[in-house]
Amino acid sequence: MTKRKILVTSALPYANGSIHIGHLVEYIQTDIWVRFQKMRGHECYYVCADDAHGTPIMLRAQKQGISPEDMIAHFKTEHQSDFADFSIGFDNYYSTHSPETQHFSNLIYQGLKEKGHIERRVVRHFYDPVKEMFLPDRFIRGECPKCGAEDQYGDSCEVCSKTYNPTDLKNPVSAISGAKPIEKDSEHLFVNLSNFENLLQEWVGSGTLQPGVVHKLNEWFESGLQSWDISRDAPYFGFEIPDEPGKYFYVWLDAPVGYMASFKNLCDREGIDFDEFWGADSQAELYHFIGKDIIYFHTLFWPAMLAGGGFRKPTAVFVHGFLTVDGHKMSKTRGTFINARTYLNHLNPEYLRYYFAAKSSHGLEDADLNLDDFLHRVNADLVGKTVNIASRCAGFITKHFDGQLAAELPEMALYQQFIEDGKLIAEAYESRDYNKVVREIMALAAQANQYIDEHKPWLMVKQKDKAAELQAVCTQGLNLFRVIMGYLAPILPVMTEQVEAFLATPITWQPEPLLAHTINRFKPLMKRVEEKQIAAMIDASKESLATLSNSTPSLEQASETISYDDFSKVDLRIARIVKAEQVEGAKKLLQLTLDIGEEKPRTVFAGIKDAYTPEQLTGRLTVMVANLAPRKMRFGVSEGMVLAAGPGQNDLFILSPDEGAQAGMRVK
Ligand code: 2FM
Ligand code: ZN
Repeated sequence: MTKRKILVTSALPYANGSIHIGHLVEYIQTDIWVRFQKMRGHECYYVCADDAHGTPIMLRAQKQGISPEDMIAHFKTEHQSDFADFSIGFDNYYSTHSPETQHFSNLIYQGLKEKGHIERRVVRHFYDPVKEMFLPDRFIRGECPKCGAEDQYGDSCEVCSKTYNPTDLKNPVSAISGAKPIEKDSEHLFVNLSNFENLLQEWVGSGTLQPGVVHKLNEWFESGLQSWDISRDAPYFGFEIPDEPGKYFYVWLDAPVGYMASFKNLCDREGIDFDEFWGADSQAELYHFIGKDIIYFHTLFWPAMLAGGGFRKPTAVFVHGFLTVDGHKMSKTRGTFINARTYLNHLNPEYLRYYFAAKSSHGLEDADLNLDDFLHRVNADLVGKTVNIASRCAGFITKHFDGQLAAELPEMALYQQFIEDGKLIAEAYESRDYNKVVREIMALAAQANQYIDEHKPWLMVKQKDKAAELQAVCTQGLNLFRVIMGYLAPILPVMTEQVEAFLATPITWQPEPLLAHTINRFKPLMKRVEEKQIAAMIDASKESLATLSNSTPSLEQASETISYDDFSKVDLRIARIVKAEQVEGAKKLLQLTLDIGEEKPRTVFAGIKDAYTPEQLTGRLTVMVANLAPRKMRFGVSEGMVLAAGPGQNDLFILSPDEGAQAGMRVK
């Protein structure tokens, strides 16, 4: 087998928010693929980085009163620890705010400029006269020009889905200062993408892209390639464009350059030849794993940039769909917007690696994490079927044969068939068809269990003359288990290490039988998932709504409709805030004591500390949900919820009734 040189990347997460399970779909998918390639002996590197530039990052740092450098350092540390705990085995994890990224961004830009691909054009954008800055579309709010819905983003309406220009919004306001934006001209730099149409067509025609991606690209070709605006005016957190004072590279220019930069940083540390992977005539393979929302950047802009800079193009871009939970978009109110750390606080990361593998296809479809199915599947497949093979055999070997395996396999043909099936499994891994991988492996696990069922070692142990047979059967069972673990190793790296310790041998792909070898005492390899762990994780994700903040001004996604009956179940009451207090140790919460006309006042923990001081709240009226089930939080029990509106943590406004309303009145 020839040894391939492969460089693999996952999309770079933004350095202003936590990793959540939606992100993990991609990192787990990529990590499995990389582990598989490495296990098969190829020279494969996996690099990633934080995507550190752009307006949202600059503004979030300002809001927190820290420098963007400090903020991105904080998130980089957090991201790396989350990834490590999910066994995402990057060879290097870097940042786009790095000298290497600046160097390659400049190089690519100069290359594009020298070859005449950069144009200058005056554009008119909304400008915040208070903040003295141009406003990205997402930072402008106003009424939808089509349906009139209030408080919509500058690029699309969440109510009627219409897309438009920010200047089409009615009554626009800046989401940063609340000021009415003015229109202002500015000269921007553009990459003339249509110059690259032939090159892109050829690349798309090379046959390595998924059919769904080719289809999208063809649509874009048909509607004509638009020039790409790569400059932003100061103030901006990013790299200043050479010879263009006050102009910065748009974050999406330097983001994919982060792939190169992270790899260059690795090369310099480990003596790898960078040009062998990125040179224009490189023979190495280069793959980018990405989500379907960023196809445009990776299949049009990025190959054009690479060509402009004199670099090779990607071998392929592997695109996956989004994650839904129980059939819906992840939602903070449902508690299904689950951060990586919240998951880790409750559940074993290998459960999710396995479940995502089992649900992952090589297409662009969305994958659903069904929480019931998750529990049953992990328990049945991993605990019930896989670990069970080892636990049914190991005890007899330890107790009756001093841990020694037999010198021969009683059924070599069965073992050979397990080895042979590795071919099919390898093909499925290679094409990222992990649900097929899992199906094939589970079929083998069922076969191994059937072998044990047929030979009944638990009966043999009672017959003295069957000792040799007992040892042979258990040796067969453990060898089949070892082959299975070799196939599962890219998905379950932690369990694989435990099995290596137990069998006192490395787990490899398609191994020779393990005979006349002493194994260690068996320890349970994986616990069953329990319903209460999942419930606690969901609950904790609901709680963190009060403490979570987001990179964009809006927290929640477009809402679904509910029936009138559903609505009428909500008991909304006018409440008087009798007392508002700080909560020791809570970053975002205030403890409110609310009078709603009942004998006993209610205690509610509300995530409004950034927006109000206790003094501002004491004595005023507001609206609360009075029949919400009490929720145990870290700081006490919350007996309801106060209603507030607003784009973010410190731009929140609690609702007040008109004059005349009194505590205890029902909202109708
Ligand atoms: O969409 C995102 O989250 C971007 N931060 C992905 C960047 S991928 C690459 F191009 F850097
Ligand atoms: Zn609308």
